[in-house]
Amino acid sequence: MGEVVRPERCVVAVDGPSGSGKSTVSRRLAMDLDGVYLDTGAMYRAVTWAVLEAGGDLSDPDFIAKVALEAELTVGTDPRAPHFRANGVDVDAAIRGPEVTGAVSAVAAVPAVRRHLVGQQQAIIARHPRIVVEGRDIASVVAPDAELKVYLTASPEARAQRRSKEDAADVTATQADLERRDKLDSSRTADPLRQAGDAIEVDTTGMSIDEVVVRLRELLSSKVQA
Ligand code: DC
Repeated sequence: MGEVVRPERCVVAVDGPSGSGKSTVSRRLAMDLDGVYLDTGAMYRAVTWAVLEAGGDLSDPDFIAKVALEAELTVGTDPRAPHFRANGVDVDAAIRGPEVTGAVSAVAAVPAVRRHLVGQQQAIIARHPRIVVEGRDIASVVAPDAELKVYLTASPEARAQRRSKEDAADVTATQADLERRDKLDSSRTADPLRQAGDAIEVDTTGMSIDEVVVRLRELLSSKVQA
């Protein structure tokens, strides 16, 4: 599938809504680049897990911020197996469960939580010469100097199909949940989900994972060789 260009140093920012193909594509691209992978959504999820464990009021931003700032996160960046721990507990399965998925938008909307996690994300990026970072605000806030910034989209139907397959859930319910989360993620005041002005939009509807990865590799080589 063509020669892989591996720049000495590169940050690839991959933003977009859930189900746009960000995770699979970002992990594959990181492996091709012989680099690491940072799933910032998993960081918000791990902190949400800690907040739920602490059992407080999810409508209280001060409580959420306190737990989030005290939580000890271990952030895995191996694209083959990106393991996460929170407060010493392996949370890989729990952060994908319905409780965390249902509460994460509320936690991710708290400005102090965002500032804290963005700082950690920037520190991780600074430590790695080649890194693919996926999230919602990577190109706009976390890594505005990234060599390549892409915004992945897909039709609501395609996104719901993919997510329901991953979660073994009903497509209609999944589509409703995606719409609910998109709305919360795009309408919050702190770093809402939006396409950065200089990000390249790639509509993945009807594209295979391989096709999207090849497209991103082409975009990256055109950027670093320009
Ligand atoms: O990508 P995901 O579904 O695992 O993200 C989980 C939640 O975290 C989602 O509601 C959006 C939020 N998020 C965010 O606000 N900023 C990021 N950089 C990544 C995720």
